[in-house]
Amino acid sequence: MKQYIEQNKERFLQELFELLRLPSISADPDFKNDVEKTSKAVAESLIKAGADKVEVCKTAGNPIVYAEKIIDNNLPTILVYGHYDVQPPDPLDLWESKPFEPVIKNDKIYARGACDDKGQMFMHVKALETMLKTNSLPCNVKFMIEGEEEVGSTNLGIFVNENKEKLKADIILISDTGIIANDIPSITVGLRGLSYVEVEVTGPNRDLHSGLYGGAVANPINVLCEMIARLKNDKNVITIPGFYDDVEILSAEERAEMAKAPFSLDEYKKALDLSDIHGEEGYSTNERTSIRPTLDVNGIWGGYIGEGAKTVIPSKAFAKISMRLVPHQDSEKITKLFADYFQKIAPPSVKVKVKPHHGGQPVVTPTNSIAYKAASMAMETTFGKKPIPMRSGGSIPIVAMFKTVLGLDSVLLGFGLDSDAIHSPNESYGLFNFFKGIETIPHFFNNFNKLYKK
Ligand code: BES
Ligand code: MN
Ligand code: MN
Repeated sequence: MKQYIEQNKERFLQELFELLRLPSISADPDFKNDVEKTSKAVAESLIKAGADKVEVCKTAGNPIVYAEKIIDNNLPTILVYGHYDVQPPDPLDLWESKPFEPVIKNDKIYARGACDDKGQMFMHVKALETMLKTNSLPCNVKFMIEGEEEVGSTNLGIFVNENKEKLKADIILISDTGIIANDIPSITVGLRGLSYVEVEVTGPNRDLHSGLYGGAVANPINVLCEMIARLKNDKNVITIPGFYDDVEILSAEERAEMAKAPFSLDEYKKALDLSDIHGEEGYSTNERTSIRPTLDVNGIWGGYIGEGAKTVIPSKAFAKISMRLVPHQDSEKITKLFADYFQKIAPPSVKVKVKPHHGGQPVVTPTNSIAYKAASMAMETTFGKKPIPMRSGGSIPIVAMFKTVLGLDSVLLGFGLDSDAIHSPNESYGLFNFFKGIETIPHFFNNFNKLYKK
């Protein structure tokens, strides 16, 4: 198997590059055609790899690619999930090479989607090819690759609900997360949930001369900033009443166990060019990004931002705000708590609208399952080290739905690194990580089959 991968390395990369050249930006309707093309390209790649029954399933939004290779109904079935859509590449001027013209530099692939998630999703396509070509596929496998993960997976939610029989499996396998370092393998066992809102603050009914009216009417940008500032106190604790009510409290033992994961604060600061860190009092950096919820402004706009100066009090100001949630917080409940509080703290001089966007529930996956063991053993074989279980700060909203709707746990067997800069300019994915993934996946299949039989 290793030999097959070695012999086909160059071709695997060229095929991934073909996918990376397609700008499948789900957030921007201008790229609808490219998104569609990408779904077809993913389907083609699955046919080429040897999958049967490859389908491009239409939805109200972007297509979902489904494929399967059923070899024996008595064998376990692994359902691979991934996404072919990517985040917008902007700001474009900060890219050192073009986002949709992949290049290799310093043993890394640079392109939007290189790691999140085309590169990682494609490892599974090539692992399937490798297992089939070396006559070593030990289980049944199904693929479900969507094109709306980066915009909330709304239509995948519907698809999953309508296709429970088709999606029957024993475990879901996902590579859309990361490891601690190339010499410190880890398996993600938790993902945060998400509440995402957009707020609009309206002051006067038109933009005003800031000399004639300044000082006498509310400036919605000033008011919005003051309101945002009130969402946290001086200990960086979120002030929305009830926000922490359902938050799972970890025991001192659990926190001590978490603290064993290798981490260097100096290196963390250096990697981000920060002279100091910032966050909720009483918690470590790793805790702040995994077991604690957050509130962040993702974008804020209003007024005049063109060349030169314009003296104006704008009529409106806007912000996009996200809250990352932890077990057992509920996305809809938190969105409502936010909306009520944001209305409440608005001064009577402005009107406030809160528009909810997509959300998702947090998840924790078991570490005592045969699937976790199979993943752990697979990584131990290929990395030469037992992986560390680790909760991640990111979100993959559909994972919680897989559990509630299909009754299936997921194994988050990702190979990315924090330094891959996903969602940022110059996203990359290490060649080491790409090929390590292709090598590790067949071991997971094998281990899962063996442990399943016992
Ligand atoms: N693959 C990421 C999530 C991720 C990355 C989890 C690294 C753990 C480690 C996924 O594509 C993503 O970006 N999800 C979004 C949520 C979505 C609703 C936009 C996120 O976390 O912001
Ligand atoms: Mn992703
Ligand atoms: Mn992403």
